Amino acid sequence: MKIRKALIPAAGFGTRFLPATKSQPKEMLSVVDKPLIQYGVEEAVQSGIENIGIVISRGKSSIEDYFDRSPELEQFLEEKGKTDLLEQVRGIAGLAEFCYIRQKKALGLGHAILMGESYIGQEPFAVLLPDDIFDCPTPCTKQLIDAYSELGASIIVLGRVDEEGTKKYGIVKPKQISERVFQIEDMIEKPGPERAFSDLGILGRYVFHPDIFEAIKKTGPDKGGEIQITDAIKILLETKPVYGYLFEGKRYDAGDKLGFLEASIDLALKRPEFGQKLREYLKSHS
Ligand code: G1P
Repeated sequence: MKIRKALIPAAGFGTRFLPATKSQPKEMLSVVDKPLIQYGVEEAVQSGIENIGIVISRGKSSIEDYFDRSPELEQFLEEKGKTDLLEQVRGIAGLAEFCYIRQKKALGLGHAILMGESYIGQEPFAVLLPDDIFDCPTPCTKQLIDAYSELGASIIVLGRVDEEGTKKYGIVKPKQISERVFQIEDMIEKPGPERAFSDLGILGRYVFHPDIFEAIKKTGPDKGGEIQITDAIKILLETKPVYGYLFEGKRYDAGDKLGFLEASIDLALKRPEFGQKLREYLKSHS
């Protein structure tokens, strides 16, 4: 079955980015010249996704405006003959069919995904966490979708993490079945180095069979009162296989201030317009 739909959870407070996120969504912070969330949207589209449901909350309406047409701005650019900019601005609204789903209370990532149940229906779907920017030869979500098509079961993207990473990410207990594919035997959310099963961390891309929704409904809140997707996947594991995929490429944790800066610098260095000048500037500081 072709995977046509994706959910992008974008309802969090963005506390790791305060004070910048006090009155604007973290997902709208600009990495080089595009908002963070656009990287996820473009990756989804390049992976064959046509319908994107964005889970938002109060104060996030600038995300809706961004992926909509902007008649006054378009008219202005047209009158000024700024055709390149006009094309770019129009292209954003045409990237996919967008739908917005409200999460009324900050009850965690699992709960945010559950809010998308009626939008998704009974088909497999991708989840992209906008904090993570992937720069891969094949879009990361496409790598997962291809693996899902072969395995026919929910699959999550994995990456090697260091000790610090065991405090920031979900960690899996893996059974390797091929170079990049692991069957998951267990998982734990942000265990820290003592309790971590391995150095394989869950990064922000998932492809789920729709039976994940029933698993989320059975998932109780964690110590902080949030329903974690990691706990829901653990419940799913009791009855269905779940796989992990060691992706090929580079990933930035742009939800973290340092990761955001690293992504900004690396992606800017790749830009033909100013990459070379930036490289020289950075050299003059080293
Ligand atoms: C979420 C997931 C976690 C995963 C991480 C990837 O955590 O709960 O399992 O490792 O995304 O970025 P969050 O970053 O929302 O705390």
